[in-house]
Amino acid sequence: RSEGLAPTPPMGWNSWNNFGCEVSAKLVRQTAEAMVSSGMKAAGYDYVNIDDCWMAERRGPGGRLVPDPDKFPNGMKTLADHVHSLGLEIGIYATAGTETCAGYPGSLGHERIDARTFAEWGIDYLKYDNCNNRGIPAEERYRAMAEAIETTGEPIVLSICEWGQNAPWKGWGREVGGQLWRTTGDIRDTWTSWTGILDEQVGLTKYSGPNGWNDPDMLEVGNGNMSTAEYRAHFAMWALLNAPLIAGNDLRDMDEPTRRILTDEDLIAVNQDWAGVQGRKIRDDGDQEVWAKPMSDGSVAVALFNRARTNTTISVPAERLGLPPASHYRLRDLWHDTESTSTGTVRGAVGAHSAVVLRVWPRQGERLAPAHSLNLRAPE
Ligand code: DGJ
Repeated sequence: RSEGLAPTPPMGWNSWNNFGCEVSAKLVRQTAEAMVSSGMKAAGYDYVNIDDCWMAERRGPGGRLVPDPDKFPNGMKTLADHVHSLGLEIGIYATAGTETCAGYPGSLGHERIDARTFAEWGIDYLKYDNCNNRGIPAEERYRAMAEAIETTGEPIVLSICEWGQNAPWKGWGREVGGQLWRTTGDIRDTWTSWTGILDEQVGLTKYSGPNGWNDPDMLEVGNGNMSTAEYRAHFAMWALLNAPLIAGNDLRDMDEPTRRILTDEDLIAVNQDWAGVQGRKIRDDGDQEVWAKPMSDGSVAVALFNRARTNTTISVPAERLGLPPASHYRLRDLWHDTESTSTGTVRGAVGAHSAVVLRVWPRQGERLAPAHSLNLRAPE
């Protein structure tokens, strides 16, 4: 494992997309337990993150944030200890403004005490939101919290929840010490929402890498409003974008298709590749798109993405994917776990609202053909 708190995109769960303000110790405890029993922990998920609405209406003694006593009757430390005892990490939420988006106490001007409080509770990850910010430059407000975290000496991931005109991806997000930053507004559980977000990721590839990830928002997989094919496509595109894989569904009550999507080893391996090169759109024919992500072993992960409501075939020459000339190419279909070979064209039959995801290895006889376009170095 290389240096830094997020050498690969963080993986975990967050309460917001499915539960909104209905957070509680019970939910967090049960979710953590489900993360283990469902196989998600084994697949690489480790953060259990509480979003907005965990706080009491007012700060407590010493100006400290206190959890809502009804929702978290035994406090945060006890809950964090339980989550840690399962081999998982715990995340919390605060806002770089006077109030959180839902109206709870904000951390602007309280960065030191809040960071210290989180550190004392054993918090491992802070999602830091941007509401009610009084027009103070984002960089300044986020730097204050990053420095306060640094002062605690604890390794707390800082997730920057700001995407406005201050474009954290353009440098300051990484520079202040954030490990990920949002690139768009809030996702919803609809095809139009996530495909719209996908469109906004074009051009951002170069800003993302180990310890500083573009965050197109949390997953909606399993929240009920899309088909299995649509959720697969959503998950696949998030995997190629090196998005943080933060599940947003009810882990305690997942159907098997949902569980299979979220725990797919091949897709997760694409997302978690140590080189951390984000995928990008290499072809756009309107409803048909091709996205490619160079992998550290010289292969390329490819998504053949069909936005149309009818089935289609998408094909692309191997060299368009950045692959070197080779005697043949080995193709693995990552959703179906089938393998095939091709002499030069990568092709797939793609259903309506679907993505076929392939990993393509250039072969020279029995061996991997040397990649020419990549210059990737393994972490120490
Ligand atoms: C806005 C963020 O973008 C959401 O992800 C969520 O954290 C809400 N705020 C909570 O109020």
